[in-house]
Amino acid sequence: MNFEGKDIISIKDFSKREIDYILKYAKEMLPYADGEKFKDVLKGRILSTLFFEPSTRTRLSFESAMNRLGGRVIGFADPMGTSQKKGESLADTIRMADAYSDAIVVRHSREGAARLAAEFADAPVINAGDGAGRHPTQCLLDLFTILTEKKRIGKNKVVLLGDLKYGRTVHSLAYALALYGAELTFVSPTSLRMPKEVVEECKELGVEPVQMSSLEKAVRDADVLYVTRIQKERFPDAEEYNRVVGSYRVDNELLSNAREDLIVMHPLPRVSEIDPEVDKTSHAVYFKQAFNGVPVRMALLSLVMGGRL
Ligand code: NCD
Repeated sequence: MNFEGKDIISIKDFSKREIDYILKYAKEMLPYADGEKFKDVLKGRILSTLFFEPSTRTRLSFESAMNRLGGRVIGFADPMGTSQKKGESLADTIRMADAYSDAIVVRHSREGAARLAAEFADAPVINAGDGAGRHPTQCLLDLFTILTEKKRIGKNKVVLLGDLKYGRTVHSLAYALALYGAELTFVSPTSLRMPKEVVEECKELGVEPVQMSSLEKAVRDADVLYVTRIQKERFPDAEEYNRVVGSYRVDNELLSNAREDLIVMHPLPRVSEIDPEVDKTSHAVYFKQAFNGVPVRMALLSLVMGGRL
C-alpha cells in the first residue's frame, strides 16, 4: 500500500483495509514513540504545523512524532503572529508552507478548510480538525486505542456521549466504527444530536445508531464510553450554550453500574464532563489515548513522506 504524497482530509477517504494497515504500522511505531528505539527515517524532512485554532495534544503529538522520526518542524500555534493578521488569505499562507516544507498539518475553524488547503499545496495536507467538520487523525488514534484496549474494533458496543452536533471527533469516529460494524448508541442533549448526515453515513454502512436520552441505561452494557466536551466556541449564541452546560457528567457513581471492563475515552481537553475521580479507575484510558496520538501520527507522517521504518 502506498500513501506517499496522499492528503489526509477525511476518514471517509480510507478503506477498512487501509485503516487496518495504518493501525498495524502504528503498533510497530510504539517503541519509537516512547523513545525506547530511534530511527531517523524522516531525517532532512520538514513538517509545517499550521494551527489557526487552539490545540495542545494534536499539535504537540504531531511535533513529537516528527521529531521522534528525526525530522524537523516549522509552524505556528496562533495565526495572530502571522500575516493572517495583515489580511493574507488561507490559500497564500498554504502556498508558503508548501514552499518551505514536505508535509502540512492544518487546523482551522472553518469546515472544509483542509480540503481547500490541499488544492493549493503539492505537499500532502493533513487535516488536524476543520471546524465542526472532521478530525481524521484523531479518529485513527481513537481506533488504535479501542483496538489495543479491546483487541477488536467491530463487535463493540460504543456509546458516544455529549456534543455530537459540533464535535468533529465523533463525526469521524461514528463513521469509522460503522465501517467496522460496531454497535452505536448516541447520547446527547436534544439540541446537540448527531447531524443527520453522519447518521445516514452509518446507515449506509449497515449500522443503525440508537439515540438514547438516558446515560445510565446506555452505559450499563457498553464496552466503550466516548465522552466529549461541549464545543462552546462553536455556539452561535451564549444562551444556547447556557441551556446545555453541565447537562451530563461521568463519575464513579455512574460507572458503578457499568461493566467492569468498560473503557472511558475522551479526545480531551475535558472541562467538567468527567469527574477527576474517574482518572484513578481502570475504566479511564483517555491519557493513554492521548499518548497514542504519537505512534499513530508517526505512522502517518512516515507513510505520506515516504520514509519507512
Ligand atoms: C478535540 C478537537 O480539537 O476537536 N481535541 C483534540 O483534537 N484532541 C476535541 C475538543 O476540542 O473538544
